[in-house]
Amino acid sequence: MNLRTKVIILKSDKEIEKIRIACQIVAISLKALRSFVKPGMTTRMLDAFVEKKIYEQGAKPAFKGYHNYPATLCVSVNDEVVHGIPSEKILKEGDIVGLDLGAIYDGFYGDSAVTIPVGSISEDVAKLLEVTEASLFAGIEQGRKDGRLSDISHAIQSCVEKEGYSVVTDFVGHGIGRSLHEDPQIPNFGPKGQGPRLREGMVLAIEPMVNMGKHQVKVLSDGWTAVSTDGSLSAHFEHTIAITKNGPKILSQV
Ligand code: MF3
Ligand code: CO
Repeated sequence: MNLRTKVIILKSDKEIEKIRIACQIVAISLKALRSFVKPGMTTRMLDAFVEKKIYEQGAKPAFKGYHNYPATLCVSVNDEVVHGIPSEKILKEGDIVGLDLGAIYDGFYGDSAVTIPVGSISEDVAKLLEVTEASLFAGIEQGRKDGRLSDISHAIQSCVEKEGYSVVTDFVGHGIGRSLHEDPQIPNFGPKGQGPRLREGMVLAIEPMVNMGKHQVKVLSDGWTAVSTDGSLSAHFEHTIAITKNGPKILSQV
């Protein structure tokens, strides 16, 4: 039996504003990183670039040291799903690369991720990225007060599966605030109309991970890097949103 008490911490407008600032720092850093990425670079160069951006904006990396994670950025190439560790791996034309970044500003966390092409990619790979991002927005659209948490999950799954791709089930989205990971967990699959009712003041990091092939993933011996078991390409997009009286507000968009 799981005895852990599940509490969803509601945030005041003031607190949401602080989370928004943390998210904006992440968004600005990711935008700069997008235009920095070129074939021939190592993933470690991306980490160094973005770490500097975070500090320049008066924030701190959120992931570094979290459960001993060794870097600022998670950088996941091709069949890597999430949590790739920056290394001497060289990016090449046609790769896709997931860039997942978190920042702490004035005690509050922001978290966002994108998957981008390195140089030009084939049309079917571009479609994987488009559908994964579209599934994130379909989920966000359900982030409305008085709805249910699994409405988000269900919208994501439907969007992904109608295109014949697979939702990764081993990792989930999460509440966020004074901690990187708060309740509730947000699966990217499931029937609608279940789980906690969505309330004004909830702040959620929604993050679908989508495999082109089968859904299974495994974690490599570094203890972090998750890859698709069948070696198929995988994409990941994430936004931090607040549930407001006027609907979902995306905090991590520039
Ligand atoms: N966005 C990811 C997550 O929420 C990144 C966490 S990486 C870690 O799980 F190193 F901080 F764990
Ligand atoms: Co996250």
